[in-house]
Amino acid sequence: MVLPIVALGHPILKQVATEIDQSYTNYRELIDNMYETMYKDDGVGLAAPQINLSIRLFVIDADPFKDTYPEAEGFKKVFINPTIIEEAGKEWFFNEGCLSVPDIHEDVLRKERVLLRYYDEDFNKKEEWFEGVCARVIQHEYDHLEGKVFTDRVGAMTRLLLKKKLEKIRTGDINMPYKMIFCKKSR
Ligand code: NI
Repeated sequence: MVLPIVALGHPILKQVATEIDQSYTNYRELIDNMYETMYKDDGVGLAAPQINLSIRLFVIDADPFKDTYPEAEGFKKVFINPTIIEEAGKEWFFNEGCLSVPDIHEDVLRKERVLLRYYDEDFNKKEEWFEGVCARVIQHEYDHLEGKVFTDRVGAMTRLLLKKKLEKIRTGDINMPYKMIFCKKSR
């Protein structure tokens, strides 16, 4: 089932999400639905808060980046209750976008490697380093679980230039590329 995407401005995107365990209702079906939604909307990652659930879960399939970034080939993974233990390496710019912030792409600076502790879809505990564009997508999705979006990480000047466009997304004054949930302020 394809789920609607929460748009920037909705309070759930500002919340720190909570951990789940194996008793979480229909989590496997939820993961299937998140993948289906992500593929339909041409995303490479989707975090649960973006489908209006404040839980620590995201899915990634970075394969579309494989031509430019070989490490992305076949990189399809589910991350449950992730914690970033460490980030390392040089900071580099990557042009990020987000299904919750349609039609906006901006260069964001992040470190090139990330050490993550998480559970896979069978609730096996893992601790692994990821690098390059795989680390990048993880860092972006992880931000969603911490109540952040990528536009919080751009420079002050870029943020100023984006202000009007972001306000249009917040108020639902956009052509929806897919079904979205807005939090319109009462006027
Ligand atoms: Ni995003």
